[in-house]
Amino acid sequence: MTKFEWDESIVLGIQFIDKQHKALFDWMNSLHEAITEGDGKVKVEEIINNLIKYVIVHFSEEERLMLSWNYPALGAHRKEHDHFTTKLQDIQSSFNAGNDMSADVLVFMVDWLVCHIKGTDIDYSRFIHEGGEKRITAPTVSAESGSA
Ligand SMILES: [Fe+2]
Repeated sequence: MTKFEWDESIVLGIQFIDKQHKALFDWMNSLHEAITEGDGKVKVEEIINNLIKYVIVHFSEEERLMLSWNYPALGAHRKEHDHFTTKLQDIQSSFNAGNDMSADVLVFMVDWLVCHIKGTDIDYSRFIHEGGEKRITAPTVSAESGSA
């Protein structure tokens, strides 16, 4: 059985976010296990509910962090989050309507998460590590200063 392994290449260096990303992988592994081991509809339903709840909390915490740093690409980042959340809710609805959930769905989730962390989260993480807004608004010598 495939295990979605956590690896150092997706560490952002922001401890509480890294912890949440790791927890997301744990949820996805639990879901994968429940599907492949035939744990039954109720169990799968429960895990996907919890997974979606966790994703929503995680995204809102990330967005709060970006907002607190005046991160300029917050809007575009939020769109990616919203798109993925909608996708997960579609998957949930389809499952609740009686359709099977295949392991492919899990591959999609994990791929999305890895791509998002490596391609999008990394940008705000760099921004924060480089000093964020402070870097942009660093005092510049004005033409008037010094002349009296
Ligand atoms: Fe994100």
